[in-house]
Amino acid sequence: MTTPDVAPAPPLTFVIFGAAGDLTRRLLIPTLINMTRSGLVGDDLHILGIGIETGGVEMLLERLESFLKTSGDMEDPAREAAWQSLRKRISYISGDFTQNGVYKEISDYLSHAPSANAAFYFAVPPQFFGDIAEKLSENGLMNEATGAFRRIAIEKPFGHDLASAQALNARLLNHTHESQIYRIDHFLGKETVQNIMTTRFANMMIEALWNNNYIDHVQITAAELVDVGTRGKFYDATGALRDMVPNHLFQLLAMVAMEPPNSFDAESVRNEKGKVLKALRTYSREDAARNGVRGAYTAGPISGRDLPAFTQTADVSPDSNTETFVALKLFVDTWRWAGVPFYLRTGKAMKARDTEVVITFRQVPFAQFPRHGTQPELPPNRLIIQVQPDEGLDMEISIKKPGLVLKTAPVSLDFRYADNFDIGKQTGYESLFYELFVGDQTLFQRADGIEAGWAAVQPFLDLWAEGGKPDPYAPGSTGPASADELIERDGRKWHQIDGGSSGKRV
Ligand code: BG6
Repeated sequence: MTTPDVAPAPPLTFVIFGAAGDLTRRLLIPTLINMTRSGLVGDDLHILGIGIETGGVEMLLERLESFLKTSGDMEDPAREAAWQSLRKRISYISGDFTQNGVYKEISDYLSHAPSANAAFYFAVPPQFFGDIAEKLSENGLMNEATGAFRRIAIEKPFGHDLASAQALNARLLNHTHESQIYRIDHFLGKETVQNIMTTRFANMMIEALWNNNYIDHVQITAAELVDVGTRGKFYDATGALRDMVPNHLFQLLAMVAMEPPNSFDAESVRNEKGKVLKALRTYSREDAARNGVRGAYTAGPISGRDLPAFTQTADVSPDSNTETFVALKLFVDTWRWAGVPFYLRTGKAMKARDTEVVITFRQVPFAQFPRHGTQPELPPNRLIIQVQPDEGLDMEISIKKPGLVLKTAPVSLDFRYADNFDIGKQTGYESLFYELFVGDQTLFQRADGIEAGWAAVQPFLDLWAEGGKPDPYAPGSTGPASADELIERDGRKWHQIDGGSSGKRV
């Protein structure tokens, strides 16, 4: 066990609905193993799995263990030891979570547990979120009157449009208090995303320039190499916009555009992020048509194999109008950001995996430097926050090229996390679970932020629901030609999609 730089989480039972499912073994248990290994949780963490599957705790342990072995998780002796310690503290209740019986058993378990603290994680399809919260509450399990905490953790999708998100929030809040709800956006577990606030608010030379006097535009990209694969059913009903924009990309946008909070406590940070999301311009139908582009990948080669078109993917309708790519031009209507476009794009089966925020500064007002032959105009400064892979920061500036003739050359000042820190093998959920266990909601979304995000994308959803088809793009490309037109008509260009190697390139 390594020594953490924070105190271990308090004693609690982590109750997992959907314990025998894929998410539990792929993500939740590996996260808890890492936390055990690094001392973020102690021996007083207990796990109670709930599932419809019969076979008792032996069935659950056997499923978890066989997954951990095949995934290579057990090859590291420290992780193996952490698992051996954790597995002794796993219990299981088999039953139907839409019926009261299971909740009586959970209640009985918790009343005998070493600590009455509990965090309930819903690793179940989202249509059950409201039902489970209601049943937990009706059975007295959300009651904190004794001083023990009771929290629920849910993960997107939080609704599939504005109306359904409002309905879900209303239902959850009918049975629990906002302070008990931890809505997870896994992007907030990424170090590089958390680092956006530090980069801005710990560095005067950055924050002083962080406004429309100096910034020309912002680009936020989450390009994925992976295709829809086996997720056809989910993806055909969801699409790139719902899957990535009101949640992950808007969290990045909120971090970039928020005002400095008075403190880093949860409410101050969430107030400021909420204000930004509420300031996103709500488009008319015509504005949405002008400022949004959708695409779907066609058949073609990618990563050395032939990928079928999205519409030929298993469990996707051959007539599907669902998009696998989206590009938007948005505005944050505040004093700081007036007139600064935010270009967002995300897609599957693209050229490379590359999640980044690119801040392009304005050109210097007057360039005295003589132009030489084909030498391009003085390029603007850029700050590239490389979220993944190759996590880091690049600052692109111009310098004098050595020599007697006054020529400029663009160079990049680079920082790479991997060169400076050993962050080890992490799932990205460790910090989120730790905050859930200690009761800090800073990294979790609040109801108003979720609804503001949906409100901003609703005009695109409405427009695309009227019909029409996404524009085609080849697998392994940077998206449809219409996405280039969206930005190029403003005299700008997308930053290259290169998996973070641009800084080293310049
Ligand atoms: C998920 C989406 O929320 O985020 C996936 O449902 C997407 O479609 C994933 O692939 C991207 O997350 P990451 O951490 O791999 O960038």
